[in-house]
Amino acid sequence: MHATQTIAIIGATGNMGSAISKSLSKGNYRLLLKGNRQEDLDVLVKEIESGHPVAEIETAVCPVEAGWEADIIILAVPFAAEKEIATSIKEVANQKIVISISNPLNETYDGLVTPPDTSAAEELQKLLPNSKVIKAFNTTFAADFTTPVLDGKQVDAFIAGNDEEALQTVAELVTTAGFNPIAAGNLSVSRTLENMQLLLIQLGMKYNYNWLAGWKILHN
Ligand SMILES: NC(=O)c1ccc[n+]([C@@H]2O[C@H](COP(=O)([O-])OP(=O)(O)OC[C@H]3O[C@@H](n4cnc5c(N)ncnc54)[C@H](OP(=O)(O)O)[C@@H]3O)[C@@H](O)[C@H]2O)c1
Repeated sequence: MHATQTIAIIGATGNMGSAISKSLSKGNYRLLLKGNRQEDLDVLVKEIESGHPVAEIETAVCPVEAGWEADIIILAVPFAAEKEIATSIKEVANQKIVISISNPLNETYDGLVTPPDTSAAEELQKLLPNSKVIKAFNTTFAADFTTPVLDGKQVDAFIAGNDEEALQTVAELVTTAGFNPIAAGNLSVSRTLENMQLLLIQLGMKYNYNWLAGWKILHN
């Protein structure tokens, strides 16, 4: 039997952070929710506990404190905030899995701020050379966490990374969140995954396109 893993979610009070925190509270994890304001964290904890009274949850306002205790660290913050946070957690994230969910969108949502020969995940790996960076959840919209199963089938969620064992651990985490993990390749595949999400966002803005509706058609 596995020992209970501790997952730090940095940016837990945001759209993605709270959706991920709520969905992982169903699993056998200890959650360390990191936010900037204790009052917002208290509201989130109450919401989670109303659905899962036995969930093991603690809060922190310091990323180093959250990262120190964690086995897995999820960065649920904007791409622009990752450099500062990565610098502060670099030592405590040593040899740990760090999950990159970000999409480095520009301000007008018509491009990425990262050059074509890299990705947010690869840039994070450069900042955290001794951590195992895994891309996950970047093609999953925050709202989709409430409906990870459509017509009895788990919706796909892509993951990418260079460390097989870390990919396996994150695949289990994605399954706990209710999705079907698809290992898409090594960390450089994050370039494609981040561009995929850019396209989905653009199609959503242009045609009110909902990829889950398309997914449903493909799987029927
Ligand atoms: N929204 C989606 O559907 C979606 C889907 C896939 C991937 N993503 C990615 O997920 C990430 C989060 O997006 P979101 O929509 O959840 O954003 P959001 O709702 O704005 O939440 C961002 C969170 O990060 C925190 N934060 C911002 N700057 C910070 C800093 N410098 N230091 C520490 N914490 C900071 C915020 O705290 P405060 O509230 O206290 O400022 C908030 O908790 C982004 O990288 C985005 O590309 C989003």
